[in-house]
Amino acid sequence: MEIFIDSANITEIEKWLKMGVIDGVTTNPSIMFKDGVYDAEAGAREISALVNPRPLSVEVTTNDLDEMLTQAQTFASWGSNIVVKIPQITQDGIPCYGVIRRLQSEEIKVNATAALSLGQVMLAAKAGATYISIFAGRVADEGGNAPEVISNSVDWLEHWKFKSKIIVGSIRSVGDVLSAAMTGAHIITIPPQFLDKMADHKYSRDTVRQFVDDAKKALEMMEKARGT
Ligand code: E4P
Repeated sequence: MEIFIDSANITEIEKWLKMGVIDGVTTNPSIMFKDGVYDAEAGAREISALVNPRPLSVEVTTNDLDEMLTQAQTFASWGSNIVVKIPQITQDGIPCYGVIRRLQSEEIKVNATAALSLGQVMLAAKAGATYISIFAGRVADEGGNAPEVISNSVDWLEHWKFKSKIIVGSIRSVGDVLSAAMTGAHIITIPPQFLDKMADHKYSRDTVRQFVDDAKKALEMMEKARGT
């Protein structure tokens, strides 16, 4: 299973990259805005160069299918590792699978984003998406069963030998991460604050504190015995 970081914050991306725990980066226009990346091209180019050859997902910002295609082609030219996020449908419900198919034929990798159902996953896989992002938190917002959608999607892709990989996003807690991992997600994209929470544990801190304290005491005893 791979872990991506769901962020446009360079400091956080660099921090987790150096620790060797992230395999890629996902963004969307809201994440870029929240992280103060107002110039999408400059931000994407900087992240792309930092994480290359790991993938960086950058999302189109239009509902017009022709413009979506042009944006995607432009974004892909910003870095060899850029994956373009195309939504399943526009805000008016028009399917975007034709754009995905066209980009796939041009060898531009697509992350078919904002998937909330198995039906959408099936269509995105058929259209040739490299990645399909299931938004676990948003599935749950509507009373849906995110683990079931994830597990059915992974089973269906594997049964029919599709190459598309499921990215689970819209993570709202460490519990969401663990649940997605145990449900068979190929990739989970995690906001930095939950990576910090995953690493931390009160009893691990207490355990390390005990070892450090006892090592100090042992050193004191040794120095006392030597008369130093
Ligand atoms: C990741 O690819 C998604 O864009 C992101 O996780 C969405 O999260 P949200 O539902 O909290 O906006």
